[in-house]
Amino acid sequence: MGIGATRLDGKVALVTGATGGIGVEIVRRLADEGASVVITDIDGAPMEDLRSELAEPDRHDVAGLDIADEGAWELTVGRVMERYERLDILVNNGAIGSIGSVVDEDLESYRRVIDISQTGTWLGMKHAGAQIESSGGGSIVNLCSILGTVGGLGNSVAYAAAKGAVRTMTKNAALYWAQRGVRVNSVHPGFIGTEQLKQRYEGTERHAAMLANTPMGRLGTAADVAAAVAFLAGDDALFVTGTELYVDGGWTCA
Ligand SMILES: NC(=O)c1ccc[n+]([C@@H]2O[C@H](COP(=O)([O-])OP(=O)(O)OC[C@H]3O[C@@H](n4cnc5c(N)ncnc54)[C@H](O)[C@@H]3O)[C@@H](O)[C@H]2O)c1
Repeated sequence: MGIGATRLDGKVALVTGATGGIGVEIVRRLADEGASVVITDIDGAPMEDLRSELAEPDRHDVAGLDIADEGAWELTVGRVMERYERLDILVNNGAIGSIGSVVDEDLESYRRVIDISQTGTWLGMKHAGAQIESSGGGSIVNLCSILGTVGGLGNSVAYAAAKGAVRTMTKNAALYWAQRGVRVNSVHPGFIGTEQLKQRYEGTERHAAMLANTPMGRLGTAADVAAAVAFLAGDDALFVTGTELYVDGGWTCA
């Protein structure tokens, strides 16, 4: 364990989309740093497997949570408050994307991406944020993307729309809670070489373009992103709110 390894001691964190490529590393990192982690994802995802690999698995919890379903948020947050009597950290990590460009995306797919990746993030802030405030304050970290800010590779229009909204909602919510003890920040990964991404794109032109456009010459790792999330989640970032933390190997400098 590195510097600050126990900086989240005593804190309770809820992570959405927690069994995906980046979510898994966020859960591991927050747990390593001392947090009790509520591992959530859509039903059927291997949440229990992840919990059982953590040290002190009983400290952590799992819950099926479709982030686009407001009733599910109410149930899950209620369950967290019942068990832990507090909530300190929300990591809005769950999201979906689609590849379609501005002309070839279809309406059904567009709406689904917005529903989950954009509205799901707002619902999380609404329901978990209120409990973080009533617990005495804490941190919300919204997983955004370089595509929330720049055009990327000129496709994934729905994802860009959703992440652009996540970026500005983050600042809006940061202002709302600025004097109420809840900090809200966004983390903007560049292209991260998760297993899922490798399976989908390795060997394709798109993968080559991801590498060619990353000044550091490599894709990021899920651990790179998790480290940024852990910083914003904890008290090292007590005066940091409404900011955008890029974990993109320099993509947005160019
Ligand atoms: N991988 C990258 O290169 C990259 C780059 C920039 C931003 N991001 C962002 O990082 C976050 C994690 O990305 P990832 O690469 O781990 O993605 P992933 O596809 O591996 O994981 C996403 C997780 O979200 C879950 N999910 C999907 N629909 C859901 C729903 N309705 N309710 C709850 N959970 C749902 C999935 O089950 C999955 O576990 C996302 O917000 C993504 O947009 C990823």
